[in-house]
Order: sequence, then structure tokens, then C-alpha cells
Amino acid sequence: MTDHSPNHKAEFSAPFTEVNIGARLNSMLNLRTMLSKDLGFAQYLTETVGWNNSISDFERLLYYEPEGCFVAEQNGEPVGTVTTTTYGKLAWVGCLIVLEHYRRQGIGLELMNHAMNYLKARGVETIRLDAVPEVIPLYQRLGFNAEYDSLRLIGTGRTMMCQKVSKMKDEDLDNVVHLDTRFFGANRGRALRRTHKDFQDWCFVSVIDEKLVGYIMAKRGLGQINIGPWICDPKHTEIAEELLRAILNNAKGARIWVGVPGGNKRSVNLLREYAFVDHPKSVRMYHGKRDYRGLINGVFGIGAPEKG
Ligand SMILES: CC(C)(COP(=O)(O)OP(=O)(O)OC[C@H]1O[C@@H](n2cnc3c(N)ncnc32)[C@H](O)[C@@H]1OP(=O)(O)O)[C@@H](O)C(=O)NCCC(=O)NCCS
Repeated sequence: MTDHSPNHKAEFSAPFTEVNIGARLNSMLNLRTMLSKDLGFAQYLTETVGWNNSISDFERLLYYEPEGCFVAEQNGEPVGTVTTTTYGKLAWVGCLIVLEHYRRQGIGLELMNHAMNYLKARGVETIRLDAVPEVIPLYQRLGFNAEYDSLRLIGTGRTMMCQKVSKMKDEDLDNVVHLDTRFFGANRGRALRRTHKDFQDWCFVSVIDEKLVGYIMAKRGLGQINIGPWICDPKHTEIAEELLRAILNNAKGARIWVGVPGGNKRSVNLLREYAFVDHPKSVRMYHGKRDYRGLINGVFGIGAPEKG
């Protein structure tokens, strides 16, 4: 097995920013690639901080980035995680969690440095993440800058009529990826195809005059439905609404989560019209080139906090 311990960084090229975490770290800290046997621990960690990611969320993260999700072990016991997802030169970092008892000993920074070195070795130029406001100082120390608010809203599904919307089919996927790349800013076709495969009943498109103008996907999470991605040409806001109605109707009675770039006022207003309420926001941050930004006026719902 590859040794990813902090003493074996030679296989990676120079890091983006190496933050000196001092001598606090116990020499028994080991960082290694996340394996399928770790999924239970990774899921448990998200539960401890109230995020409730599912095992299948982590299975997908490992499918997208089998070498790029990491576990920190202290004295042989898992104590923390971080994940990465790359889309060419753009990448996302997520699921940075350290067990409460082990915090403020430098493990979070060490996990981040490890993830960033991995991404640098993959040729990534821009890293983005959604930061919980309290943790912004940690990311700033690593050279991340705030970009904009990343809002979270929660609503409830109910019976809805919807028009001009149909279930997404395999034949739609090329057009879905094309539209998505325009607004997301990088090609995340692999993730979209996998999400469609896993959640066929939760993916809808809208085609006007033979042109795909919007799509929405949602995933069954633990105790809730998570919308995302939800992308629509801003010239067709009425279609964004129809796509939302399709999910509301599918999710009758269920709690629904959605993350929205703060700059997309149309999405925020639309969700409020449908009685979605604000939950604590995150802050979108970037590292490296401020590139691959996409067009947030077409991003009505992000894919997920950990992968953009
Ligand atoms: C975020 C988290 C992973 C940090 O892990 P950690 O091992 O405690 O982090 P470190 O010890 O490496 O922190 C290094 C530096 O980051 C900053 N930092 C870390 N946590 C911080 C916090 N809660 N508030 C303010 N600054 C913080 C500090 O500058 C700290 O240095 P210091 O201890 O010398 O002041 C951990 O607090 C955690 O699991 N939180 C809950 C989940 C979460 O919010 N994850 C981030 C989502 S974006």
C-alpha cells in the first residue's frame, strides 16, 4: 500500500502552501488513502457534526477520486477525513472533519496540506470549497480567499403540477453535460452520469424548441432529499421553477435541502416563495487561480458542499 505518512511526501511535487504546524503533532499521526472499510467511520464523522452524509455519498466520492480521499490515523485509530473531487484543472475539497477530542492539534491542517499536495500533483490550478464560517481562519492560513456566500435552504415536498419537464434519459446526458459545463465552469460529466445512474427517478430536464434549457437532480440522503445540481439558462427562470416543482412533487412530505450561490437572487427568491427557510450559510472559498468560475446566474442549486 502507498505510504502517505507525513514523512513520505517526496512522491508529491512542491505543495501550494506548506503551513508550519509546529511540533504539536504527535509522531503517531499517519495519513493514508480512504478505503471502502473506512466508509462507516467517514459517515459517522459527518453524523457527529450534523451533516448526515450517507455511506453511498462516500461510495460515490471514492468512485470519483479513489486516490484522493484521505483518513488521518492517530496511534492506528481513524480520527479525521478529507475528500477531493477533480474536474480537470478545477477541484473541490470537502468532508474535512476531525474527531472533537483530537481538534486543535494540527490534524485538520495536516489533512488539508495532504489533500492540496495530491491535487497539485494532479495538475489542479484552482481549488474551491464551502467553508463553515468558524473554520475560515484555517483555510485562510492555507491561502484560500473568500468568494461569496453559499446559502443553504430547507423546504418540504408536496403535491405539485409541473409542465415542460420530463424525466432525464440516457440520451439527454450529453446535452446535460454541455449545459452544465457552461454554468458550472468545468466538465463534471462523470459525476452527473453517476448521479443519474443512481437516482434516475430524481433527475428531470426541460427541452424547449429541441434545446435543453435546464435540468435538476436530487439524491436521497439520510432523512432528507438533497437537491443538486440544479442548472437552468437564466433566460428561462420559469423553467427553473418547473424543475423545482418536479422535485417537490416527487418528495411529498419529505424534508428537502438545497445549497444556492448567494449571488443567484432568482433562486433564493423562488425557494422562499415555495416556503424554503434559511439555514446557516457557508462561504465559498478558492485557492490558486480565480478561474473556472462558471456563471452563477444559471446555478440555481449547487451539486453538494463537498464537490461543488
Ligand atoms: C475544522 C476542523 C477539521 C479543524 O480541525 P483541527 O484538527 O482542529 O484543525 P487544526 O488543529 O489543524 O487547526 C489549525 C488552525 O486552524 C484554525 N482553526 C481550526 N479550527 C478552528 C476553529 N474552530 N475556529 C477558529 N480557528 C480554527 C486555527 O488557526 C488553528 O490554529 P491554532 O489551533 O494554533 O489556533 C475541526 O474543527 C472540525 O472537525 N470541525 C467540525 C467540522 C467542520 O466544521 N469542518 C469544516 C467544514 S468547512
